[in-house]
Amino acid sequence: MDGVTVIGHPLVQHKLTIMRDKETSTAGFRQLLREIATLLCYEVTRDLELELVDIDTPLGPMQAPMLVGKKLVFASVLRAGNGLLEGMLDLVPAARVAHIGLYRDPKTLTAVEYYFKAPEDIASRLTIVVDPMLATANSAVAAVERLKERGAKDLRFVCLLAAPEGVERFRGAHPDVPIYTASIDSHLNEKGYIVPGLGDAGDRMYGTK
Ligand code: URA
Repeated sequence: MDGVTVIGHPLVQHKLTIMRDKETSTAGFRQLLREIATLLCYEVTRDLELELVDIDTPLGPMQAPMLVGKKLVFASVLRAGNGLLEGMLDLVPAARVAHIGLYRDPKTLTAVEYYFKAPEDIASRLTIVVDPMLATANSAVAAVERLKERGAKDLRFVCLLAAPEGVERFRGAHPDVPIYTASIDSHLNEKGYIVPGLGDAGDRMYGTK
């Protein structure tokens, strides 16, 4: 599908299967989400620009590649986005972080904003939006809209699971924002959950109900 990368790496798929299993503990789920996030981060940053710089190793001088160009912002859609955020920051600790607080109105399934904080210089950075579940895409679409209003111009969206309905809606609203996911599942149910999915990502991360 155009603009959508499904990350089929065996480690990602193996960890995802354990996360889907309803017997997996809260601690196990959180740990696996953090681990998968580093692998997703590896993929979404695969094309970052490098430049040769002069350094001295203990054995002498060399030219070696270092990142140049745009710095990163990770934008976490609260609260489940924080599970992916931790793993991303493990890999890119110097990145800046934006937080977008949205909750799903259980009746209308629309996104309602309660918190927004983003770095001042977001316009000059690559913004990687993280939210584990791209279900109806209402929150993802709203989060990206708010980030664009704040000046973000170069964005990518990373999730763990997507529903085909969510992918279609997100791509329709933000065709300039590519999606990275570990799986596109079968469909959304009448409550807006991804099937077969893994349940409520936030509840499974934090042991709430
Ligand atoms: N959010 C979740 O946490 N799980 C779903 O299946 C859909 C939205």
